[in-house]
Amino acid sequence: MKYTVFIFFSSLIWITSCSRILVVFHMPSTSHYILGNALARGLAEAGHDVTMVSPFEEKNPPKNGKYRNVILTGFLDDMDKQDMSVFDMEGMSPFLMLPFLNFYCNELTQNTLEHPNLQKLLKSNEHFDAVVIEQFNNDALKVLAYHFKAPLILFSTIGANSWINPLVGNPSPPSYIPDALLSYRPDMTFHQRLVNWLFTVVSELNRQLLFFPTQNKMMKEHFPDAPDLSILNYNASIVLLNSHESINQAVPLVPNMIDVGGFHVNPPKELPKDLKDYMDGAKEGVVYFSMGSNIKPSMMPKEKKTPY
Ligand SMILES: *[C@@H]1O[C@H](CO)[C@@H](O)[C@H](O)[C@H]1NC(C)=O
Repeated sequence: MKYTVFIFFSSLIWITSCSRILVVFHMPSTSHYILGNALARGLAEAGHDVTMVSPFEEKNPPKNGKYRNVILTGFLDDMDKQDMSVFDMEGMSPFLMLPFLNFYCNELTQNTLEHPNLQKLLKSNEHFDAVVIEQFNNDALKVLAYHFKAPLILFSTIGANSWINPLVGNPSPPSYIPDALLSYRPDMTFHQRLVNWLFTVVSELNRQLLFFPTQNKMMKEHFPDAPDLSILNYNASIVLLNSHESINQAVPLVPNMIDVGGFHVNPPKELPKDLKDYMDGAKEGVVYFSMGSNIKPSMMPKEKKTPY
């Protein structure tokens, strides 16, 4: 009897245990935020104490959980000031994308590390049980897991790719898995395979010789005692992937990489009346065309808007 009571009470403690989780999605991009925020909200609703670091503000945090926002203020304004739009990058060679991504992502990482609101959190002596970070050319941010002495969980918003695979030893043969920056389909021609292989080599050289040293330097500026990035970078406990084998190419995944694609989708709501009437009334059906969350119609060149 004594043991039953003991087991009963100890299981109560287990049931009510809540973890403190830090979620960092620093990209000023709505589609990335939607994923990070769905995860953060879900964890809070499950009873955990969640701190979400992002440029966006959750105006309607879950009521039955602890959800705190640390807002990277100013990031969205900087984004609006950018002269480059996705349309300018459309025809850009993927080889030129590498230096562009180095520059843009280094600046974002630096601004995140220096942000007064993040600095305040770093100095707060708070404790976290897990640190979830979006993996998007921001490797220096992994130092947050080291700083808070918590296991590192990575979230790849574009599935398994060359930025994350080497960090957990996941194979990705260029012979049949196209790089995310090349717009190839899995059934590549011989020429495309050759370019894919060359691109894999060049982009890995770029990471090792240019990108990582810069990230390491900015990390050391803020955390002089931290181990080298070449150690912190290879210490993820779990990698969550925004992909799913039902809609993406079947690729090898090591056991700590988990496909969670689709987890953020909410049950559908009724359409507003005008849209519903329009769709129901369309005799030949309706083609729904979405340009995602990063493209503003105002940025679209005029000749692209004009129908043929
Ligand atoms: C690597 O992760 C483990 C598990 O979270 C942790 O115990 C260890 O301290 C980490 N190593 C470094 C160098 O941060």
